[in-house]
Amino acid sequence: MNRTAVRTIPFFNYPALFARQREEIMSTVERVFSAGKLILQEDLEQFEANLAQYLGVKHAFGVSNGTDGLLIALMASGVEKGAEVIMPSHTFIATGAAVHYAGATPVLADCRDDHLIDPQSVREKVTNRTKAIVPVQLNGRTCEMDALHEIADEYGLVIVEDAAQGLGSEYRGRKAGTFGRAAMFSFYPAKVLGCFGDGGGVVTDDNHVADRIKTLRNHGRMDDGDVSGWCFNSRLDNVQAALLDLKLASFQHEVRRRRQIAAVYQERLEGIEELRLPPGPRTDPRHFDVYQNYEVEAGQRDELREHLTANGVHTILQWGGKAIHHFPGLGFKVDLPVTERIIERSFLLPMNTSLTDDDVDYICELINAFYRG
Ligand SMILES: Cc1ncc(COP(=O)(O)O)c(C=O)c1O
Repeated sequence: MNRTAVRTIPFFNYPALFARQREEIMSTVERVFSAGKLILQEDLEQFEANLAQYLGVKHAFGVSNGTDGLLIALMASGVEKGAEVIMPSHTFIATGAAVHYAGATPVLADCRDDHLIDPQSVREKVTNRTKAIVPVQLNGRTCEMDALHEIADEYGLVIVEDAAQGLGSEYRGRKAGTFGRAAMFSFYPAKVLGCFGDGGGVVTDDNHVADRIKTLRNHGRMDDGDVSGWCFNSRLDNVQAALLDLKLASFQHEVRRRRQIAAVYQERLEGIEELRLPPGPRTDPRHFDVYQNYEVEAGQRDELREHLTANGVHTILQWGGKAIHHFPGLGFKVDLPVTERIIERSFLLPMNTSLTDDDVDYICELINAFYRG
């Protein structure tokens, strides 16, 4: 590779991904719009059925976005006013907002070296008001679900998954989204399965919870015309569902390519002492990761990011570089040492299927040159 040729590698390349599927996307939009099928129509039902089948769950529902989806999943699972809900601090603010708007109090736990919630820290946070655990299936990896189930069983807690970043990931052969009473997925455009605007999904195996989700997302309206109570308008647009269904068909390809890129990052960067990489695709046979993000911890992080930016490679800090307890207005006072270390040292390298092999090679060379000269 010619080291002097600077490339431009955006963190995420929406136009390139659109261009790749332009014809199919435009003909889907044309079909849906010209049929005038916009809200709660067949494309949504079809996508919900395909998502449920892919996951092996009984019920899937499209909702407006992942945040609403988690709120609805929590409410439908019986989380209510006065409850405490244990969740990680290293997550998007939306996880805490959903817990808050369900009427409960978010209780923040620490994470482990793989950046996911630490079951030991969860155990230490359980009180007699704890009602639920929200594991966040972060960066396309599923949490240590055996240990979390053990705690949930011991204290009679409900598990509701924030699988916004976890679609397709597995733990002991079981897919994220199938471990809790209910689970949420985000279809935000940059997700492994992303739509063309906001979108989300809620899934469950429980018929009663499914009925609640279905009415909660649609004004409480029930099949018999009655209303179940004060609810939301949080439906996934039919056109977004049709586009998601189109992308679901090539989802495995998306995952395979991300895992390939992660393997190259690992191979090319793992000898660098100053870096702590995410677990590689074949590091732990219990986990199948889909690499929604590639979050590395780095010595001299800010200088490394500057070096990458100066050479055309755009990186970002997850959540803008703050865990939930870092926002003073939210009033948390907690001691979470692993989370502190992660927030201080980590950033996201580009990870998406618009990256070419040469792009990944270029990024790895820049990082090697930064540390090794
Ligand atoms: C971990 C996590 N939780 C919740 C959300 C919220 O999803 P949405 O943006 O679809 O509302 C996101 C999305 O970005 C996320 O990454």
